[in-house]
Amino acid sequence: MKLVIANLKMNLLFSDIKKYKSKLEDANVKDIIIAPSMLYLSYFSDSSINICSQNGYDKDSGAFTGKSSFKQLKSLGVKYALIGHSERRSLSKEGNDVISLKVESALRNEIIPILCIGETKSDKEDGKTFKVLKEELEVLKDKNIDSIIIAYEPVWAIVIKKEVKTYCDNFKIVYGGSVKLDNVKEICDSKYVDGVLIGGASNDADNLIKMYNVVNNV
Ligand code: PGA
Repeated sequence: MKLVIANLKMNLLFSDIKKYKSKLEDANVKDIIIAPSMLYLSYFSDSSINICSQNGYDKDSGAFTGKSSFKQLKSLGVKYALIGHSERRSLSKEGNDVISLKVESALRNEIIPILCIGETKSDKEDGKTFKVLKEELEVLKDKNIDSIIIAYEPVWAIVIKKEVKTYCDNFKIVYGGSVKLDNVKEICDSKYVDGVLIGGASNDADNLIKMYNVVNNV
């Protein structure tokens, strides 16, 4: 069984989300993982669809205006959380210190982290790929990890596996970055990946269902 994770980012209005949710429920894709905008997470609370937050704050509660804690997310039924997504690393300047606290907090609140890692174009050009990936994975050091998912853009999944194994035994590696209907099967057929993280191509529920069916040979 390969994982299909949809990251809707900051897309879709509430009226769209209502249709989106009912299409997924009708299609019976119950082990799919959906990361809608934080605003819509509670709308999925009563659903059998696995919900994932796109972010979270490491403190459990307190005077932190505009933040949502992993503890609060857990109370909504959130099972997974994207942590360290490249857009947060670049737009919000999140680094290892912040990301490590988030991983810790998600684990403490029994949310499975989907830790996103990947080198930038310039890291790659400078031959720093493995150095960067190794550093990004250091946030897993000294954590009590039951299970975790690593989302990785480029194609070095086999090397990543070896590195992640030094931190925990129970993990999956999913591939993210321009996954589309016409390449999802080929990506998922690789024995090195356990599934996909789909961004743009997941905004259309019909397209996402098609991708899910292709991956699962339905
Ligand atoms: P993309 O996004 O599929 O639109 O490339 C993937 C992601 O950034 O989560």
